[in-house]
Amino acid sequence: MKVTIKLSGSLFNNPFREIRRLSRVITRLYRNEGIRFALVAGGGKIARTYISLGRKLGMDESSLDELGIAVTRLNARLIIAGLRDIAYPKVPSSLEELDLAFSTGKVVVMGGLYPGQSTNAVAALAAERIKSDLFLNTTDVDGIYDKDPNIYPDAKLFKQIRIEELKKLLEDKTFAAGTYELLDPISVRVIERSKIKCLVLKCDPNLIEKAIKMGNVGTTIVI
Ligand code: UTP
Repeated sequence: MKVTIKLSGSLFNNPFREIRRLSRVITRLYRNEGIRFALVAGGGKIARTYISLGRKLGMDESSLDELGIAVTRLNARLIIAGLRDIAYPKVPSSLEELDLAFSTGKVVVMGGLYPGQSTNAVAALAAERIKSDLFLNTTDVDGIYDKDPNIYPDAKLFKQIRIEELKKLLEDKTFAAGTYELLDPISVRVIERSKIKCLVLKCDPNLIEKAIKMGNVGTTIVI
């Protein structure tokens, strides 16, 4: 089984503890169950801090995206450190490099790729490229809600959402550096065109394990 996981930037709010918890789960599933992984690290608060500083200093949007990408790649290096010898030692900077790294049989950890998108898009493209059986898109909330649960306490969590409905939810969002929310439009198109099985769930190593073994965690995107 091949699994691609987008690791929410929120994992890096408490990086030492969370990277160790995640590494234990990934190592167990890789060694005992033979699951193959591509992981994609988000940028978290540090990326947003850099982007807002760069914006104040007058950097343009694509340069700000590049700042964000640099931080996601640093985060990926910490995940590689946590996974030790089961991880491919270099962060791929293209999908071609992902192919090569994945062909070694090691766990591959990526960050961002190009300006104009988020690590959600990278993870969808990685899932497509390695022909993942499952794409876990982890975030700081329990799944996809009808409105932002951090703002509206009455927000409703979807157990399932049809992709058409998801596209409507994303219609009125803005997409500037550091503010790509939930799933960006590129990730949705990739999931749809390659019919990738995708769950959106909270970034918690125990839930990641449950999602791989049993499915039925967070929100399932129905294509
Ligand atoms: P993300 O916004 O994907 O990180 O990347 P995040 O903090 O993990 O997001 P969430 O909160 O978990 O969803 C950080 C920034 O890096 C740039 C974008 O500006 C993005 O906001 N980026 C990342 C790119 O420009 N291209 C990429 O391929 C990836």
